[in-house]
Amino acid sequence: MTTMKTIEACAILAALFAIAPAAGASGEFTYQANGLDWDEVAELCGTGMAQSPIDIVSANAVPASAQKGNRGLTTFDFAPGTDIVIENTGHGLNTMFDVTDLSAVIETPEGPQSLEPLQFHWHSPSEHSIDGVIYPMEVHLVTKTNVTGDLAVVGMMYKYGSENALLNKLWPSEADDFAFRIKGEDSAAEEAYLHEKGAKTETGATIDVMKELLPASKDYFAYRGSLTTPPCSEGVYWHVLKTPLEASVDQVLNFQNVLAETSAGVRTNNRSPTPVNGREIVSFPN
Ligand SMILES: *[C@@H]1O[C@H](CO)[C@@H](O)[C@H](O)[C@H]1NC(C)=O
Ligand SMILES: [Zn+2]
Repeated sequence: MTTMKTIEACAILAALFAIAPAAGASGEFTYQANGLDWDEVAELCGTGMAQSPIDIVSANAVPASAQKGNRGLTTFDFAPGTDIVIENTGHGLNTMFDVTDLSAVIETPEGPQSLEPLQFHWHSPSEHSIDGVIYPMEVHLVTKTNVTGDLAVVGMMYKYGSENALLNKLWPSEADDFAFRIKGEDSAAEEAYLHEKGAKTETGATIDVMKELLPASKDYFAYRGSLTTPPCSEGVYWHVLKTPLEASVDQVLNFQNVLAETSAGVRTNNRSPTPVNGREIVSFPN
């Protein structure tokens, strides 16, 4: 009897360890397979039918006035952010900030709801693609609706071009506490800035979300999708802005250099695209 129990216990323990092989304990995940193994961390990541990111085929996007669904207009009107804190989450950099007013509004079936900004963070390369085009970097401004508590994300692409002023402010490459390893070079420990998981910095900066983060043209593609990280929860109101921002090659490299390696010399934190499964993509001028 005792022997039997021991064998059972061993089998249970073996099964428990088998559940989370590469992923590690307690819902931790990596970008080793760019999300293709996340069903081991959260089942929905493998079984969800309305996941993100997706490739947006602009020719298939339906003008808002002709849509079959009920996606309402979002009016982007974010107040400036203060008390900015940037944290290395181990999967990228989260930028937290406080806002005074909630002025952006999304029209939902439950009525107009204010969007409360929670944080923004970057992925490289981009997670969404537009007409098959993958961009070097994408930023996600994550917000929560004030009545139903749904997440609404504003995603923007960066193409290679001029140095991005906001990124320069948040990742000060010329500051004494030199921000990032340039082009993969290791930096001295005292110069390391935001390299380690859990590292945080208060920049003291303020940010004009409308002018510094969002592009001048606010036209966007809208669809319902999911978090692009485990637990891959669905019901997220996605906005993917049509006009890309610009960032310099060095800025993109500097960001990639704080990420963990996914294979020798490759540092990425993008989830692979997921199937559209017939979802309607709505095109909004705004
Ligand atoms: C939520 O936001 C809407 C739109 O701004 C506003 O009319 C409503 O009063 C807000 N509701 C709550 C509970 O704050
Ligand atoms: Zn994201």
